Amino acid sequence: MTDLSVNVDHVATLRQARKAAYPDPVEAAEIAEQQGATGITIHLRSDRRHIHESDLASLRQTVKGKLNLEMATTEEMTTIALRYRPDQVSLVPERPEEVTTEGGLDLLSTGERVVAVAKKLEAQGIAVSVFVDPEPRQIEHLLSTAVGCVEGFEINTDSYTKAQGAEAQAELRKIVQVTTMGLEGGLRVYAGHGLTTANVGPVASIPGIEELNIGHSIISRAVIVGMEQAVREMLHAMA
Ligand code: PXP
Repeated sequence: MTDLSVNVDHVATLRQARKAAYPDPVEAAEIAEQQGATGITIHLRSDRRHIHESDLASLRQTVKGKLNLEMATTEEMTTIALRYRPDQVSLVPERPEEVTTEGGLDLLSTGERVVAVAKKLEAQGIAVSVFVDPEPRQIEHLLSTAVGCVEGFEINTDSYTKAQGAEAQAELRKIVQVTTMGLEGGLRVYAGHGLTTANVGPVASIPGIEELNIGHSIISRAVIVGMEQAVREMLHAMA
């Protein structure tokens, strides 16, 4: 069964809507793990629009499975990651005006910076993943420049989740292709973005994709049915 890392950013989004002390992403993370999530993901953005450094500090103490920190390749974030030592860092592109991560890293233009940050993290025992679109040239670049400091990559599933019919099938084939390339190159493969109980099945059934990172749909559903049920429903859809 594919692992599930629950992204709890949007629990903090709700909290920040009122700059209140609740709801607490730490509490949501505890429930997600109790229900079978194997890890927790947060994205500490430069603008701190949802998750704050104090959330990372608390989650570092409380998360029992894999704590995955998504972050931009900045000096500030690298210092924070080295301070709190999450189990994994996922390097992502970040544009201040974006509503959510808009695409994968373009390793062909930013690869040097990515490798420099990855080396610093890897040297301190933090596993590094990079978020990339399902494009073979990105994986080729990764395999030729970053093996050793990057343990794996997360495939951006956004285009698949927005496509229908034959187009969705074509997007799935791209995901399968880059999964195979990654595995053959000795990398671990993860996937996520835009996944819901309605579209997760075909991605969860791709052999070799180890873990899915899912946030918005689970937290949205949790508002209606509660966190326990929302996580259970996702795990059921993945199975
Ligand atoms: N993976 C990455 C790199 C992301 O930036 C996000 C969104 O924070 C996700 C996965 C989860 O996406 P969603 O919230 O659409 O499930």
